[in-house]
This record gives sequence, C-alpha cells and structure tokens, in this order.
Amino acid sequence: MTDRQIPSWSELKPLMRPKPLVLNGTERRLADALTIADLRTVARKRTPRSVFDYTDGAAEAEISLRRARHLFRELEFQPSILHDVSHVDPTTDMIGTPSALPFAFAPTGFTRMMNHEGERAVVRVAQRRGIPYALSTMGTTSIEDVAAAGPDARKWFQLYVWKDRSAGEDLMARAKAAGYEALMLTVDVPVAGARLRDARNGFSIPPALTVKTVVDAATHPAWWMNLLTTEPLTFASLSSWSGTVADLLDKLFDPTMTIADLEWIRASWDGPLIIKGIQTVEDARRVTDAGADAVVLSNHGGRQLDRAPVPLRLLPDVAEAVGDRTQVWVDTGILSGADIIAALALGADATLIGRAYLYGLMAGGERGVDRAVAILDREIRRTMALLGVSTVKELGPQHVRLP
Ligand SMILES: Cc1cc2nc3c(=O)[nH]c(=O)nc-3n(C[C@H](O)[C@H](O)[C@H](O)COP(=O)(O)O)c2cc1C
Repeated sequence: MTDRQIPSWSELKPLMRPKPLVLNGTERRLADALTIADLRTVARKRTPRSVFDYTDGAAEAEISLRRARHLFRELEFQPSILHDVSHVDPTTDMIGTPSALPFAFAPTGFTRMMNHEGERAVVRVAQRRGIPYALSTMGTTSIEDVAAAGPDARKWFQLYVWKDRSAGEDLMARAKAAGYEALMLTVDVPVAGARLRDARNGFSIPPALTVKTVVDAATHPAWWMNLLTTEPLTFASLSSWSGTVADLLDKLFDPTMTIADLEWIRASWDGPLIIKGIQTVEDARRVTDAGADAVVLSNHGGRQLDRAPVPLRLLPDVAEAVGDRTQVWVDTGILSGADIIAALALGADATLIGRAYLYGLMAGGERGVDRAVAILDREIRRTMALLGVSTVKELGPQHVRLP
C-alpha cells in the first residue's frame, strides 16, 4: 500500500510554471516548431496549395526526392565515446572562406511568391548567421536589391545559361559589380523537369485569378494581401512572364550547352566557379578538369530527372575521385542537422539546403528562415557532440554506415 497525502499549496506552487503567453501568432507558431518537418506543417497551412506544392513537389512520380530522403533516414551513425565535446565548432570552409555552419542557402526561383519578404529575408538571415546565399537566375528580387539588403552577406549568383548568351554575360557582369563572390552554374536543366503537381494545380507565375485561386484567397487572406500589396512579381533577371514555370524554363534555357561552354563562362567570370547538378563520378572529373572550384552533387531536389542517382550515395566515390582537387558539396533531401553531419562524414566539404529554409520562409518570412537555421544549428552541434567530434574536420566515414 502506498501512503497518500493531500498536496499543500506550498508544494504545488513551485510546479506551476505556465508557458509565457506569446501574442504574435507567427512568433508562437515558429517557437513551437522544433524541427524542419514542423515548419513544413506550418508552411502548408499558411500558403496557398499551389504555391506550397510548387515548393514541396518534385518531378514526375517524385521518386528521386523520396529516395534521397529515405537514404538519409536509413543510414546509421557510428558514435565514438569519451571525447571532450564541451566546445563544438561547426565552422566549415566553403571555397576558401569559412561559413559559420556547414551549409549554404541553395538558389531557389520565385522566392517572393512563397512569402512576400522573399530573397531579402533570406539574404538578411545569411548575413546575420554568417552563411552564404546563392541568388537564383529565377529570383524575384534583383541582383542589386539583394546586395543592398545583405551588403555584408556572402553572396553567390546562380546562372542558368540561356539561349541568349549576351543576357548571361550581362548577369555575370551585374553580379560582379554588386559584389557577388562566386558564380554557381547549374547544369541539370537542359529542359524543364515534369512537375506534375504544378500542371494539376494549374499553377502559373504570377498566380492567375481563377475561381480556384479566389476560393483559396478566402482561406489564405494574408498571403494574397501581401502578394497584391507589394511590388509585382517580376524576376531578378527578366522583366516579366505569365505562364507555367516549365514553359518559362523551356523558352529560356539552352539545350545545346556542352562542357566546352565552360570556357565561355570562364572568359566572362574570373572569380570562383561552382558547378551544380553533377550526378556521376565521370562528370565530376570532367568539370574538375575544366577548373571547377566546387562541384555540387545534386539532382535538383528531385525536380528534374526522376529516378536520378541519390547524391549522398554518389558522394564517397566522387570525394575519392576529385576531393583532393576541388570541393565536393551535396544537396537534395536534407531536412535536419543530422543529415548535414552525415553528408560531411561521407566526404562532403559542405552542403546546400533548399526546401528546409523555404518551409521556414513560408511559415513566417524572415523570422521563419531564421528559425530554420536555429533548428539546424542546434541539431548540427548536438549530432557532432553525440558522435564524439568537436570540429567538422574530425568527421569521417567511420561515423556513418550506409545501408
Ligand atoms: C522551389 C525551388 C526552386 C528551385 N529553384 C532553383 C533555381 O532557380 N536554380 C537552381 O539551381 N536550383 C533550384 N532549385 C534546387 C535547389 O537549388 C536545390 O538543389 C534543392 O532544393 C536541394 O534539395 P532540397 O530542397 O531537398 O534541399 C530549386 C528548388 C526548389 C525547392
């Protein structure tokens, strides 16, 4: 038999610690989000369906993205015990300069559509947190305006090569003049991938006012209000477009581009060159021979070729083949700090994140992007400590077993 007593007020009082009341709804939702998956849930509620799907979705049956995420989930960490991890330092070299965390914000198109604060929000967080940001050719804030919003951020410009080559030269010159440090050339979009969610949702840019979108406006009034009362959605690098994303990509992009064109890029851009969208060891070698300062193993977040190689799977072989001559980065499917640490252990010098920060942006603008970084930051430090390492250099293949 357990002896019982009636609790006295003096015993109860110290246990009563009500959560401080946060009146601002966005602040409250962001504070309650403990993971990137939580931010995604908030994002989904706060953004019109077609915009959320454009961001969240991938190409065709979305197998590339699912497989990439699956491999991150299925890998097994191998921790090493009894190391002093009282100070963990996640600082990482990215093309010769330290980044405070082992990732950069990947280039993403149409960012101002996900939330009206758009690219400016992202570059401000990049500046505050000391991590680089790659502005997309398809960005919705100009090269110069992004530079003005984040004058001290490390900025890279992501180039898509267009049929009109002089337009590309012009963009590179503007990026150079505005203080962008590196050029990131994306090479996995000779034609647009089939984003079936967009086609099914009748998604266009800017969003068209149809019966469906007007009904949607009733359930997402703040998003529509912000869209309609801020500067119209135009692009960083072309004046306007109204149609589907796939049509736009196909109209602009040059399917004739080959590796020989890297010489043309080199002639127009004398700074560091990052090649994004590498999917075989052989291609990693080819672009390294052509002088890439970093290669990004990526299948574009599963948005191009479906059933493409899983970048993480490719990583150890690529790191072995070219890792002593160029930096090897990886993206696609990263949703946590532990994913990032696993990639570093398997040979990546650094990573890029796409949707992880876009979910934050959709959930709460600049504060949401900041929340995404704070979540990843804690996860990165915690995973490093639990693995028994205090710097990213100590991470190695002994820390991860792939299935
Ligand atoms: C909404 C969205 C737009 C994107 N736009 C671009 C782009 O304009 N240029 C580019 O090189 N990559 C683009 N990407 C691909 C990202 O740079 C990155 O490779 C991808 O998001 C990584 O996968 P993750 O989202 O799983 O992190 C885009 C990705 C998303 C989700």
